[in-house]
Amino acid sequence: MTRVFSGIKPTGPVHLGNLLGALQHWVTDQAEADSVYCVVDLHALTVPQDPSVLRATTLELAQVLLAIGIDPDVSTLFIQSHVHEHAELSWILECTAAVGELRRMTQFKDKSEGAEFVSAGLFTYPALMAADILLYDTDRVPVGDDQRQHLELTRDLAIRFNGRYGDTFVVPEAAIPHVGARVMDLQHPTRKMSKSDDSPQGTILVLEDLRSVEKKLKRAVTDTETEVRYDPEAKPGVSNLLAIQAAATGRRPEDLAAGYSQYGPLKVDTAEAVCELLRPIQARYAELAADPAGTADLLAKGADKARAVAAPTLERARRALGLLPH
Ligand code: AMP
Ligand code: TRP
Repeated sequence: MTRVFSGIKPTGPVHLGNLLGALQHWVTDQAEADSVYCVVDLHALTVPQDPSVLRATTLELAQVLLAIGIDPDVSTLFIQSHVHEHAELSWILECTAAVGELRRMTQFKDKSEGAEFVSAGLFTYPALMAADILLYDTDRVPVGDDQRQHLELTRDLAIRFNGRYGDTFVVPEAAIPHVGARVMDLQHPTRKMSKSDDSPQGTILVLEDLRSVEKKLKRAVTDTETEVRYDPEAKPGVSNLLAIQAAATGRRPEDLAAGYSQYGPLKVDTAEAVCELLRPIQARYAELAADPAGTADLLAKGADKARAVAAPTLERARRALGLLPH
């Protein structure tokens, strides 16, 4: 069976872009692949975090993943720092990676430029990500386009390690979702919806009050024409609404467009589709949030399941390198 691995950082509330662009695929992948999903809290530490916020955000993200339908009996869901093999293999891969190739990572350039404090961890971030992936003999990694370069590096590190020390790691493939997987900001539809709080009216959170969700979608920026057409270049606002409704209902934006001749009904239906999608998620989340001990128990079991795969892989790497067995 194909092994799928993906991770998400607990660095803010989950928004509609995360859900439609990435997490929904995690849910559907469960049926066809042996799926391993990880809340990558160690990756969050690459930039300064408030401890109480990190703790709350990590738990919330795990509960959102459960609420959207990640089934811990079918998949493996765990917190990165609960499986210490990640940090250990990360060190080994830091020693496999060259400074030059880490310096070429555009995410590092973007995040370090102008920053007051740049941690060494921000620089070696891709080695930890490679460790996440390689520990599980991963075949396929569903990620957004922005992670393509990190995936390429993971492949390079696996190939280099295997070449130097003998076959140890499975070389993974990226699985980048198709167009339409990008959800844009509702107020600035030429930029991606994101969890940064400079555009609260443009971002819909998965746990947001549904009246507020409806309001934001009804106030979404469109254009001065009246024609409903899926054309992200010429009509970014309208196309975003079509793409959101399509992703929420499992249809195609082009097909949806044919059913509208005005913006008003498009907004009303899109708001309804998003609320229909979020309502059961929020109900399940409320149940989970009322029982943190239950979630902790599920996550402990997830970590045990993960460790059962990760530990033998790390052991292979240790032996291949010549580290003395103990
Ligand atoms: P981030 O919020 O940047 O940590 O991203 C977590 C996951 O959600 C990644 O797989 C991203 O590619 C995906 N993602 C983030 N923002 C969007 C968006 N606006 N549209 C689609 N996917 C997104
Ligand atoms: N770097 C990824 C992001 O910013 C998160 C991540 C960490 C990840 N480890 C991973 C994604 C392993 C896929 C596989 O979105």
